[in-house]
Amino acid sequence: MFNTPFLDLPPLLGAAGSVRLPGSKSISNRVLLLAGLCEGTTAIHQLLDSDDTQVMLAALRTLGCKVEAASGDDYGVRISGLGGRLQVREAALFLGNAGTAMRPLTAVLALLATLQGGRFDLSGVQRMHERPIGDLVDALRPLGCRIDYLGQEGYPPLRLQTGAAPLQINAPICVRGDVSSQFLTALLMALPLAAQASPVVIDVTGELISRPYIDITLKLLQRFGIEVMREGWSRFTIPAGSRYRSPGEIHVEGDASSASYFIALGAIAATAGPVRIEGVGAASIQGDVGFIDAARAMGAHVEAGAGWIEVRRAQWPLRAIDLDCNAIPDAAMTLAVMALFATGRTRLSGIASWRVKETDRIAAMAIELRKLGATVVAGDDFLEVTAPAAWQAASIHTYDDHRIAMCFSLAAFNALLPQQAAAGVAVRILEPRCVAKTFPDYFETLFSIVQTPAARIPVITIDGPSASGKGTVASAVAGALGYHLLDSGAVYRATALAASRSGIALDDETGLAGLAASLDLVCSAGSVRLDGFEVMDALRDEAVGAMASKVAALPAVRTALLRLQLSFRQLPGLVADGRDMGTVIFDKADLKIFLTASAATRARRRQAQLIEAGISANIDTLCAELEMRDARDKTRLVAPLKAAEDAVLLDNSFLSIEQSVAAVLDIWEQRRPF
Ligand code: DC
Repeated sequence: MFNTPFLDLPPLLGAAGSVRLPGSKSISNRVLLLAGLCEGTTAIHQLLDSDDTQVMLAALRTLGCKVEAASGDDYGVRISGLGGRLQVREAALFLGNAGTAMRPLTAVLALLATLQGGRFDLSGVQRMHERPIGDLVDALRPLGCRIDYLGQEGYPPLRLQTGAAPLQINAPICVRGDVSSQFLTALLMALPLAAQASPVVIDVTGELISRPYIDITLKLLQRFGIEVMREGWSRFTIPAGSRYRSPGEIHVEGDASSASYFIALGAIAATAGPVRIEGVGAASIQGDVGFIDAARAMGAHVEAGAGWIEVRRAQWPLRAIDLDCNAIPDAAMTLAVMALFATGRTRLSGIASWRVKETDRIAAMAIELRKLGATVVAGDDFLEVTAPAAWQAASIHTYDDHRIAMCFSLAAFNALLPQQAAAGVAVRILEPRCVAKTFPDYFETLFSIVQTPAARIPVITIDGPSASGKGTVASAVAGALGYHLLDSGAVYRATALAASRSGIALDDETGLAGLAASLDLVCSAGSVRLDGFEVMDALRDEAVGAMASKVAALPAVRTALLRLQLSFRQLPGLVADGRDMGTVIFDKADLKIFLTASAATRARRRQAQLIEAGISANIDTLCAELEMRDARDKTRLVAPLKAAEDAVLLDNSFLSIEQSVAAVLDIWEQRRPF
């Protein structure tokens, strides 16, 4: 997951390959709650692991449900339900920004507190306290539920507690259906707990929106033993004697809303081969698979079977559409971004519910689409988007809304449009971490199937002598940007270590080159594995460093290590540190830094490092060794240590690491188009 303040996407050029989607948020949270309410134990497989499901799990634990990890490869849990009996009578539940937790838990706990006694406080993040819940409270109060607003009238936080009167469920219960379908879902999931002696009837007033989500609710209720009778979309009857029963085992489908980004990706960028989506398919119970038809209407070639979807680009540029999106409200945001790739004006209507989601999505989409150069008209319940005549690089604000972050990532493919002539503009996604709400690995999944020439992937090189701090600075810069890191010194050190382990002499150039060419080296954050074993500490050894310097002077070794080093250049970008990163390996890098510090300063830093590692060292000896190593690195015939002509020189003798990092990031930022 990208935990950086922003994520820069360079212009991207193509996509092909297969992705597996995380579990559906809507199904996951419904199944979790139903498993928590029913009798018996339910094993839930392929559960979504995200912010929203974590708050639901935490709430269930607080309420006394037993939650264990389910066995198997996929993320799953085993929940022992309450069997409809409260075990905890007083609790404060924090529900983040999860509407799928707040609404149904409100209904369930209001009913149970009335039936069995109790007091529950439900709260969330600030935005949750701006998302309406009044219609649900208004539906529950006439039943005798005592619900108090702890903040603003009509919004969470709420207190639910034992009422003055017993529960009244003989008359039909009225709920509005035109603001959020989650209010009806909440009642449908809660009322089976009360439908004992007689059936319970729910009447929906106003036109019910987002009906496919009600379908999901009804199908899942069925899996848990409740057969709701539906008359049109306005009357729902829960039969008398309803009782939740565990299905024992349940598999969560991949998230169809998340599929929309990859369907759109296929429509825009799959020219070499299809984009294949695993985990959700034609027979899905999620309404958002209806997005497939919308994508086809815009010009995508889509095939789908049981549990899979394959998409290729057909019409290019895409075709504008005029569509009522009531049935696919979440996935429709993706259409708004696809409109950037279409000829003509796209009109999306029936999206009033966007205003009460994670953010006011109509306003947010309009503002952000305009930043890229699009012409946008935003109404109460519609959005009209015309593609930019001239694209502008833009920094996209994400409003703590996962879907804005995900759908706008597709804008990075603008280089594919004829008018962009393969040049394209970069797109910055602010606070990319917000995707954790439903798809924590969204960007990693996207990058795994994006095909963009390596030369297009940004590289920052940081070269310099030993102990100049380049390794620490490079690692911090990579961390701040979410970029990959190449510590090329470690590559030479690993070669030296492997040579000494296999007894190859340090002057056997052919033997060393052969070894280097087949080096089994895997580097990741805080770990370097050689032949499958962790060698991070072994590589830090001064003796290994000295050997590395000798090995590195051999031309055949350097050639043999070229491909390995180049392979680190992956999306979203790379920070590479060493001696010849800017001069040889990445000689066309986007930014080259040459980091220096006086020999005395560097010797002091090295001494501090060694002391921290429990090794004593004499400063004069260290200084002499550093100077000797620098002399060898500078005077060798191939790739000598020197600043590239276009490198920025940064003497950090008097700078702290933080200041050096800030200086590099500052220079980088000045070269960005945002
Ligand atoms: O940066 P370091 O101390 O880990 O590097 C160890 C040796 O490897 C160094 O003395 C020179 C060599 N090296 C190189 O020749 N080219 C690089 N890009 C990185 C390191």
